[in-house]
Amino acid sequence: MPETVFTYGAPALKYGAGASDEIGHDLAQLGVRRVLVVTDPGVAATGHPQRVAELMTGFGIEAHVFDRARVEPTDLSMREAVAFARENGPWDAYVAVGGGSAIDTAKAVNLLTTNPGDLMDYVNAPVGGGASPTQPLRPLVAVPTTTGTGSESTTVCVLDVLDQHVKTGISHPRLRPTMAVVDPRLTLTQPPGVTACCGMDILCHALESWTARPYHSYERKRPEQRVPYCGANPIADMWSERAMGLLAGSFRQAVRDGEDETARGDMALAATFAGMGFGNAGVHIPHANAYPIAGRVKDFRPDGYPDAEPMVPHGMSVALTAPAAFRFTFEAAPERHVRAAELLGAGRLEEPPSDPRDLLPRVLTELMRDVGIPNGIAAVGYGEADIDDLVDGALKQQRLLATAPREPRAEDLAAIFADSVELW
Ligand SMILES: NC(=O)c1ccc[n+]([C@@H]2O[C@H](COP(=O)([O-])OP(=O)(O)OC[C@H]3O[C@@H](n4cnc5c(N)ncnc54)[C@H](O)[C@@H]3O)[C@@H](O)[C@H]2O)c1
Ligand SMILES: [Zn+2]
Repeated sequence: MPETVFTYGAPALKYGAGASDEIGHDLAQLGVRRVLVVTDPGVAATGHPQRVAELMTGFGIEAHVFDRARVEPTDLSMREAVAFARENGPWDAYVAVGGGSAIDTAKAVNLLTTNPGDLMDYVNAPVGGGASPTQPLRPLVAVPTTTGTGSESTTVCVLDVLDQHVKTGISHPRLRPTMAVVDPRLTLTQPPGVTACCGMDILCHALESWTARPYHSYERKRPEQRVPYCGANPIADMWSERAMGLLAGSFRQAVRDGEDETARGDMALAATFAGMGFGNAGVHIPHANAYPIAGRVKDFRPDGYPDAEPMVPHGMSVALTAPAAFRFTFEAAPERHVRAAELLGAGRLEEPPSDPRDLLPRVLTELMRDVGIPNGIAAVGYGEADIDDLVDGALKQQRLLATAPREPRAEDLAAIFADSVELW
């Protein structure tokens, strides 16, 4: 029996320059008196979180800032944030000011100060216990300062589980923020390297949800079996398409000139739109491949990020195999791949490839080169000898691979990684 139902969920949204000045008013309407603001040290240095906290006091709210969220959080860093919140609570609400790292940390803090148990009880099985929260969470206002993850609209919280060397997540509708406050002014200070990685994340969210396996191609689910990621559907498609149009116009410019408020505004909208799309449709092969690329990092240190430890930032790790992944998925829906390339400006290519299968990969590699993404997985430290290990890691992301329009076997993933060693 084929599926006939799809779902759509999204937080309340406030968008625009100055939107982050009004959070105190919005929370006071909910009777909130005591708030924990969650951020990371880099974002704290911009002064945005402190300013958001101070503005809340004008509405009779006591606000404290926790500024030790880790960039690309781990189970350890999330436990530290949870311990701080448990010791210094109770809190009526949480406000996350930062990128995906701060927002995801706040989701974990919210979950574990309202529900019993340990972080690992809730992490997706088989890595963790896969439990669902039994108690409602507190209001969480997410204020993104990067233009990327869309975490402000999703039900997902991503973390590195250190002793298992695997990146995974917690996924449940109750994790979705109550309200997303997207204030493009807060994104102006993103370094160019962060803007480039985050922009590639937006692009892959839009492309992967636009090309995802359609919702009606699955078996009919019972109500209790429904998952937030339900496959491509007309509503998610609309958000993904619009996100691609905005990226085509403003991505390169936002990296070139971070002070360009129009480009920054477009990128903030694109991130939000893509979040509303992929947050319901899902993502697939590039994101599944990204987990081992980021999780098994050796000694790569990207520009614009803290350099204390090696890392391959999320958006970069997603982008590196995207051209080859979309060459592989092409045959599942050629018209969608061609249309995506057109939305991203394929018409401006000087020498378009003759095979339509190569069109989207070409558009992607030209964009990656222009915004300064490394030239393939070799440039971040992986060679042919690592491919089996990377495939192993990607195959563990079954929740994501289930959304792929064409199911990849181990040898297909190996071919995708091999094609991604060097991109141009
Ligand atoms: N929950 C989801 O739905 C979801 C989706 C995709 C990715 N993620 C996760 O989100 C994390 C990545 O988040 P991200 O890409 O938004 O970046 P991030 O939060 O890791 O921040 C990247 C860097 O930019 C700095 N920074 C952020 N905003 C800044 C600003 N306005 N000015 C100056 N510096 C700024 C931070 O201090 C940090 O050093 C990863 O852990 C990834 O796995 C989550
Ligand atoms: Zn992503």
